[in-house]
Amino acid sequence: MQIKKVGVVGCGLMGHGIVQVAAAQGGFDVVAFEADQGALDKGIARVEKSLAKLAQKSVEKGKMDADKAEAWAAGARARITPSTDKADLADCDLVVEAIVENLDVKKSLFAELGATCKPETILASNTSSFPIAEMGEASGRPERMVGLHFFNPVQLMKLVEVVRTDKTDEDVFAAARGFGESCGKVPVGCKDTPGFVVNRLLVPYMVQALEMLDRGDASKEDIDAAMQFGCGHPMGPITLTDYVGLDTTLFILEGWCERYPNEPAFAVPGILRRHVEAGKLGRKSGEGFFKWDGDKRS
Ligand SMILES: NC(=O)c1ccc[n+]([C@@H]2O[C@H](COP(=O)([O-])OP(=O)(O)OC[C@H]3O[C@@H](n4cnc5c(N)ncnc54)[C@H](O)[C@@H]3O)[C@@H](O)[C@H]2O)c1
Repeated sequence: MQIKKVGVVGCGLMGHGIVQVAAAQGGFDVVAFEADQGALDKGIARVEKSLAKLAQKSVEKGKMDADKAEAWAAGARARITPSTDKADLADCDLVVEAIVENLDVKKSLFAELGATCKPETILASNTSSFPIAEMGEASGRPERMVGLHFFNPVQLMKLVEVVRTDKTDEDVFAAARGFGESCGKVPVGCKDTPGFVVNRLLVPYMVQALEMLDRGDASKEDIDAAMQFGCGHPMGPITLTDYVGLDTTLFILEGWCERYPNEPAFAVPGILRRHVEAGKLGRKSGEGFFKWDGDKRS
């Protein structure tokens, strides 16, 4: 099964990055789809800015001369077809969904894609927290459904989790893995289990750190320093929660608690809920567990 043409639905924070790595690193023809023209223009502008930045860096590092770098960026841009017409996705070999994290909205999109795309098209979701199998059922072609979970920022983060359900065909899974590799990523395979590998380990770890903070076992600064200097993490768990967003973390945990009430690792720390209720959402709102001025923490 050869993937040549890729559709990306949603051109926001994650989607624009997926469009870019598929076109620039992967060399695929890419249909970048958005629901409306304004969002599409914004997404494409982000891709163009990022391509220009990468091209400039390559020149600065002496990897390419200016003409070659410009041609590289122009080549990637030329492989991208912006679209607001779902019919343009019909002949894609793979369609990756990166829209809002709402299961009902995603399911209705996959039902439409299942009805619109050619029978061989592989469908993929970039969801962080929903079961891939439910979207596969909604599409009417569960054997051609996978998860392709990229990390933010897509252009820089090396990992992609490739998720297979009980119904995913072996060759579909292999093709999705191959796609990840072509985009310059390290693909890891995983079953359709909550949080896949990374978030299943990371989110309960953040929960434990917040519970420690709530009990007063240690200060937020000391919890963070412990994991930075004791375990070599680039940032501690409290700062990490501020980066991810307290509302996003709460949303993931509430969903898991509802779906998997017997999993003891899934719990909502009281301190997290109290902060979100107070409007402290993390770096993006200027205050979470720490105060933020851009990237500066106090
Ligand atoms: N933000 C992250 O760090 C991150 C990391 C991994 C995975 N994800 C997942 O990726 C997905 C997208 O997240 P994001 O952070 O890029 O969100 P975002 O809000 O930045 O982008 C979503 C985009 O989808 C568009 N959209 C919404 N509904 C649509 C529809 N029906 N058809 C076409 N376009 C539509 C919006 O206009 C928007 O541009 C979510 O499922 C999220 O859980 C996010």
